[in-house]
Amino acid sequence: MIGIGSDHGGFALKEAIKKHLEERGLEYKDYGTYSDASCDYPVYGRAVAKAVAAGECQLGILICGTGIGISITANKVPGVRAALCSDCFSAEATRLHNNANILALGARVLGEGLALKIVDTFLDTPFSNDERHIRRISMIEE
Ligand code: RB5
Repeated sequence: MIGIGSDHGGFALKEAIKKHLEERGLEYKDYGTYSDASCDYPVYGRAVAKAVAAGECQLGILICGTGIGISITANKVPGVRAALCSDCFSAEATRLHNNANILALGARVLGEGLALKIVDTFLDTPFSNDERHIRRISMIEE
C-alpha cells in the first residue's frame, strides 16, 4: 500500500499521481487534502508519515508547493526517511542508498511529466541491501 498526501499546493499533482498509480494497478490510500482550498501541510505530512512508520503503508508520496515543508514534517516522525527529489537520479539513489520510504515532491517546481517519472523511479527501485548503506541507515536511527 502506498500512502499519498498533499496540501492545497500539491493537490492537483496528487490527483494526477493517483490516476497514474491506478493505471499501473498499484494500491494507494489518500490521506488528503481533498480539495485545493488552503490548508496546512504539516497535517498531511504527519498523517502519511505516521502510516508509513506504523507499517500501514510500505511507501509514501507527499506533495506541497516546494516539497520542502512537507518533507521536513515527515522526517520528524521516527522511522521515516523522506527524500525530496526533483530528478530521477536522486529518486533512484535515495532508494538504493537511503532506503527512503517517503518521496516528497514540489508541485510548483516540477512539471507533471517529470514528477510521474520520478514517482515511477522511486517505486520501481529496491533498496540495495548493501552492508555499508545498512550501517549508515542504522546510524540515522540511533
Ligand atoms: C503553501 O503556500 C506552501 O507554503 C506549501 O505548499 C509548501 O511549499 C511549504 O513548504
